[in-house]
Amino acid sequence: MFDNLYENKKVFVTGHTGFKGAWLCLMLHYLGAKVYGYALDPPTKPSLYEIANVEEVVTSRIDDVRDYNKLKNSLKEVKPDVVIHLAARPLVRYSYENPRETYEVNVMGIVNLLDAVRFTDSVRAVLNVTTDKCYKNNEWLWGYRENEIIGGYDPYSNSKGCSELVTDAFRNSFFNPANYAKSHRTAIASARAGNVIGGGDWAQDRLIPDFIRAIERGEKVKIRNPHAVRPWQHVMEPLTGYLALGAKLMTEGSTYSEAWNFGPDDKDAKNVEWIVNKLCTLWGIGASFEVDDSPQPHEATYLKLDCSKAKTRLGWYPKWNVETALQRIVDWEKARSQGENMRTVCEQQIHQYFMD
Ligand SMILES: NC(=O)c1ccc[n+]([C@@H]2O[C@H](COP(=O)([O-])OP(=O)(O)OC[C@H]3O[C@@H](n4cnc5c(N)ncnc54)[C@H](O)[C@@H]3O)[C@@H](O)[C@H]2O)c1
Repeated sequence: MFDNLYENKKVFVTGHTGFKGAWLCLMLHYLGAKVYGYALDPPTKPSLYEIANVEEVVTSRIDDVRDYNKLKNSLKEVKPDVVIHLAARPLVRYSYENPRETYEVNVMGIVNLLDAVRFTDSVRAVLNVTTDKCYKNNEWLWGYRENEIIGGYDPYSNSKGCSELVTDAFRNSFFNPANYAKSHRTAIASARAGNVIGGGDWAQDRLIPDFIRAIERGEKVKIRNPHAVRPWQHVMEPLTGYLALGAKLMTEGSTYSEAWNFGPDDKDAKNVEWIVNKLCTLWGIGASFEVDDSPQPHEATYLKLDCSKAKTRLGWYPKWNVETALQRIVDWEKARSQGENMRTVCEQQIHQYFMD
C-alpha cells in the first residue's frame, strides 16, 4: 500500500484519541508506521481509543494544542516525518454553546502546530484536516470545488474556514512551494471531508451515534433535519485519502501543497431520512425513528463535495458505497454487543477495506 512509504515512518497525529484519530492510528499501524499521538483524553466515554486499545499502537502524549511550548517540544522530541492534524472541537451544536473554545482550539491549534513545524527540521509533510463545512454554503445542488469561497455559517464551520486560511497563510509565508527544493522541503496541505461514519463514534448530536444510543435504550431515534443532504462516507474513505495525499506530499512535495476534497460519489449524498431508513432495515427488529419537530439551530440543507481533483491527481476513489458503509457499522456494533475483541474487529475491517 502507498508503495510501502509509511513503513517505519514517524507519523505525528494530533487528535489521536478521537474517533477519526483512533481509526487512523490503527491504519497507520497496519501500514507499519511508527505512530505518535498528541491530544487531550478521549472526548467521549466509551471511546474507540479505549475500546480497541489503540494506546498499544501509539506513543501517546496527553496535552493541549493550545499550549504552544508543549506542542513544539513534543514535535522536537519525536522528529516526525509526517504530521496529520485532527485535534479539534468538531461539533456544530457544541460550537453554538462554546464558540470561544471552538475558535481557540480550531484556530490557535493549527497556528501553534504550523509555527512549531517551522522549528522541526524532520517534517516533510503536514496535513491539516478541516471539513466540507468550511465552504461558504450557497444551498446549491452542485458539489463544492477546492477553489470555492471559504466561509462557514456557524462557529464550528467558520473556525474550520479560519483554519484553512491560516494554513494558506503559513504555506505562502514560510513553506512556499516555490522555495520547496532550495529551502524548507516541507509540504503543507489541507483536506476537506464530509460526514464521516463508522463503528466507534460516540459523539453527541451525530446521526449514527444517536441511532445506536436510541437502540440501546430501546427507544425510537429522533431525527432533526430529515431532508438535509450530506456526503456520507465510511471513516476509512477520507483516512485513505489523507494517506494517499500524505504519500504524495512526502515524495513530490510542492506539487501537492494545496487543498483537497475527499467525499463519496454523488449518488451517496443522501438525506438523513434515507440513511436512517436504511439503517433500520439493516439493523432489523428493534430499530425505528421519528422526526423531532422542535426548533433547531441553523444547519445547511445541501452540502456536497466535488472530488474530481483527488480522483484525477491522486488516483483516490471511494471504495465502499453508503450501503456498504452502513452494513459495516451494523456489523461493528453487533460484534461489540456480543463482546468480541474490538481491536480485532477494527483490524479485520481495515484489512477488508484495503483488500477491496
Ligand atoms: N467526524 C466527522 O464526521 C468529521 C467530518 C469532517 C471533518 N472532521 C474533522 O476531523 C477531525 C477529527 O474529528 P473526530 O470526529 O475524530 O472528532 P473527535 O471529537 O472524536 O476527536 C477530536 C480529537 O481532538 C482532541 N482535542 C480536542 N480538543 C483538544 C485540545 N484543546 N488539545 C488537544 N487535543 C484536543 C480530542 O482529545 C480528540 O482526540 C476534526 O478536525 C474534525 O473537524 C470530522
